[in-house]
Amino acid sequence: MTLVYAGVVSHAPGITGRAHMVENVAERERLYEALHQQRRDIVDSGAEALVVVAAEHFANFFMNNMPAYCIGLGEYHEGPIEDPDWLKIERVRIPGAPQLARQLAEQVMQSVDVAYAEEWKCDHGIMVPLNFLTPDYDLPVIPVNINCQGPPLTPLHRAWAFGEALRRACDSVDDKIALLGTGGISHWPATPDSGKINEAWDRAFLQQLMQQDKSALLAYSDAETYAQAGQGGFEIRTYIAAAAAARGAGELQFYTADLPIFAVGCTVARFALA
Ligand SMILES: [Fe+2]
Repeated sequence: MTLVYAGVVSHAPGITGRAHMVENVAERERLYEALHQQRRDIVDSGAEALVVVAAEHFANFFMNNMPAYCIGLGEYHEGPIEDPDWLKIERVRIPGAPQLARQLAEQVMQSVDVAYAEEWKCDHGIMVPLNFLTPDYDLPVIPVNINCQGPPLTPLHRAWAFGEALRRACDSVDDKIALLGTGGISHWPATPDSGKINEAWDRAFLQQLMQQDKSALLAYSDAETYAQAGQGGFEIRTYIAAAAAARGAGELQFYTADLPIFAVGCTVARFALA
């Protein structure tokens, strides 16, 4: 068993880009402390590579050719694609793990028709978590994407199956691997509703996620999610995949809806591995 850590984290660009505009500074510091704890947990796990199951925003994949699932096989990945001054993250080259990523892709393919890419550009969806969790970019990263942007989207039960396939793949290799799902939950990015957060919806979803309540998690319809959690809510697929990979109960380490300038409820959580 070589999956050594599994967790989830929010990735909105405001977490770094608008950090200086926060009114509730104490709450921001609590978020940062939770992120630092997540970094320590990953380090303490002995992880030799970090699989980031993200929901990119048309950085690599477009409506002319949109894979439901993709694994990055590159020797390195570059990011952020956004203006570094806007995101407040320097442009860097992140080490990949091409051999390991290829092994994982081959294993995942046994049950899920995952795409792969030897080139990968990282947007805030990966860069914001890495900024806190591997700030020296010294941990090889395997980027993984679930299409949460361009409908038709992969069904939630397939996101769960993808997480299970990732777990089997991680457990088939000797390397110690940390896996992180990163996404919303409720948010309305790049719309007139940007900044809105449905805290009640977030907390209900997180409770189901922490309890590994599979039937409840897979019962969300895209129409309901869109109505209650915005198009950003489609990113629950990354959290669901992480839960499926972990198999164990979750521990919600931090959630707040009290940093509205970040335009998302901010989550940090980890799962027991079972
Ligand atoms: Fe996103």
